[in-house]
Amino acid sequence: MSTPGTSIAFPLRSERLLVRPFEEADAPAAHAVYGDAEVMRFVGDGRPTSLRETVEMIEGYRRHQRERGFAFWAVLAADDGQLIGDAGLEVTAHGVELGYTLGRPWWGRGLATEAAELCVDAALGPLGVRCLVALADEHNPRSARVLEKVGFTAERRVTAYGRPHMRFVHTASGAQPRSSRPQGRPSGS
Ligand SMILES: CC(C)(COP(=O)(O)OP(=O)(O)OC[C@H]1O[C@@H](n2cnc3c(N)ncnc32)[C@H](O)[C@@H]1OP(=O)(O)O)[C@@H](O)C(=O)NCCC(=O)NCCS
Repeated sequence: MSTPGTSIAFPLRSERLLVRPFEEADAPAAHAVYGDAEVMRFVGDGRPTSLRETVEMIEGYRRHQRERGFAFWAVLAADDGQLIGDAGLEVTAHGVELGYTLGRPWWGRGLATEAAELCVDAALGPLGVRCLVALADEHNPRSARVLEKVGFTAERRVTAYGRPHMRFVHTASGAQPRSSRPQGRPSGS
């Protein structure tokens, strides 16, 4: 797992996306995503946030970034810099967990896969994470498909936020770990 001294160069870049740590000023744009009930159906406890909660989430991501050197990051469209969602890594009950959430206008274009690839490359490369985990609600096949496309393998069913999820793993070697090591709180995303 990364230590607080570890750093990577932001923004991470792909063909269509920029990924960087959240800034306080991102709250209104992030709230257009997190305040949408349809978007949040399978994220965390499954309900949209209030603006205050969005601000607190961003504060939490910024704190996680300072303490760990990684976090859920802002995902921006590379062409115009618009914030379209998040993708990143968080230490949770299940290990170092990958998550992603995009606003509805940006679904169905391969963008979550593109963002997740940047995060996986950063984690298994410069951040030195040996094993990534991810949870997908069993009723969210889109998310499961994204995980498969970026190299995760379905491991076992777990309960998170009272709902059944599939736990996926991705190791630096690409091999399945012999055992899993639960650690803390699930993010559900
Ligand atoms: C889940 C989410 C991130 C996917 O984003 P996206 O940009 O649309 O994903 P991509 O386009 O990169 O890939 C989606 C894949 O799912 C597939 N898919 C779409 N609907 C599907 C369905 N009902 N069943 C199975 N696969 C489906 C797509 O065909 C695509 O796979 P393909 O490239 O092999 O064709 C996005 O819908 C989202 O942000 N949802 C709300 C937040 C969320 O649920 N986050 C994950 C929490 S675990």
